[in-house]
Amino acid sequence: MRTIDVNLPGRAYQVQIGNGSLSKVAQTARAIGGTKASRAFVVVDTGVPTHFSNSLQKELESQGFAVCIAHITPSEKIKSIETYHRLLLEIASTGHTRVDPVIALGGGVVGDLAGFVAASYQRGVPVIQCPTTLLAMVDASVGGKTGFNLTVPNGENEPTIYKNLVGAFHQPSLVIADIDVLDSLDARYRRAGLAECVKHGMICKTIGSGHEKLMDWMSEHLDGIRSFDASTIEELVARNVALKATVVMGDEHESTDAKAGGRMLLNFGHTFGHAIETIAGLSPDASDPSLAPLHHGEAVALGMVAACHSSVAAGHCDSSIVQELENILQAIGLPTRVAGLPQTSEILDRMMRDKKTAGGSLRVILPIGRGKCTIVDSPDVNTIEAGIDSIRA
Ligand code: GLY
Repeated sequence: MRTIDVNLPGRAYQVQIGNGSLSKVAQTARAIGGTKASRAFVVVDTGVPTHFSNSLQKELESQGFAVCIAHITPSEKIKSIETYHRLLLEIASTGHTRVDPVIALGGGVVGDLAGFVAASYQRGVPVIQCPTTLLAMVDASVGGKTGFNLTVPNGENEPTIYKNLVGAFHQPSLVIADIDVLDSLDARYRRAGLAECVKHGMICKTIGSGHEKLMDWMSEHLDGIRSFDASTIEELVARNVALKATVVMGDEHESTDAKAGGRMLLNFGHTFGHAIETIAGLSPDASDPSLAPLHHGEAVALGMVAACHSSVAAGHCDSSIVQELENILQAIGLPTRVAGLPQTSEILDRMMRDKKTAGGSLRVILPIGRGKCTIVDSPDVNTIEAGIDSIRA
């Protein structure tokens, strides 16, 4: 078992990574809630094999908790105000109080929704994040971002889903990443999670603090990563969580004036990626439209490629950076091109509506060297268009 401390003043917590670590949740929930806690509200991803949620329920009950389980079948559409409302009604109907924990057992959609219920119900109750996807382990479960998407009417066209437009920072009391759960993930979800690891590799030298060799380590261990070798994956999760924890501890609330970019650097690939993630019909494989829509990690992979090409067009870095990124993404099996993108102006418009814009002008994270990225405000629109066009299949 590896433990990584997220030392935030007054809100310090641990990320526990290891095989079988889910068995510790109930005991720790009791320690967190103290003797007064009597209920646990568990939000479970329907993709998680039932034996994990059944044993969690039994262990919580043996610790004296009355357990209410709510299920979510995750998708960007389901990450909505309606689902948030349903969860609020369910938690309220149990008589859940401020000392009782919410427990999220699932991927990023479940963690973000359950986290926001915990952030807002009775102005905040404790949440324990139990990520069950690689993506949620290395990114979404650590750092306290919670929320849901907003579907905004778009005249006569299909309404547009804006990612994570409503939310709050609400740090978990504990994160438990059980590597055993990853065995149940299908190959596509595994690959999608690796996109966030590559993102960390692309910023590792800017983050510094001992994380500078992350990309080198991933390149050296590519075989173990691709075959999902258990000990390589545990090490991969630990290294990525450690980098994420460093960033969060330096800039918990993603402030605009954070030294060297802070938490905003974690948005590398996301402004481009979010703009295409919710477009219906985009498939990671042009020859198989049935794979549409893109998974978050696939959109981030494409977003990072677009950001790299924009950076080259703007003269911030040379094309060797693009090549290295595309090589590692292709080796992992993530897309670097996508067919069927709408017009560039439409994607630009979606990027402008992303919550990462600053005062109405675009803000992007662009590479400036190997493992180094920087924030660019109001980039030349031609360079952004070049980035978008670079990922067209
Ligand atoms: N996923 C980016 C962040 O947590 O800040």
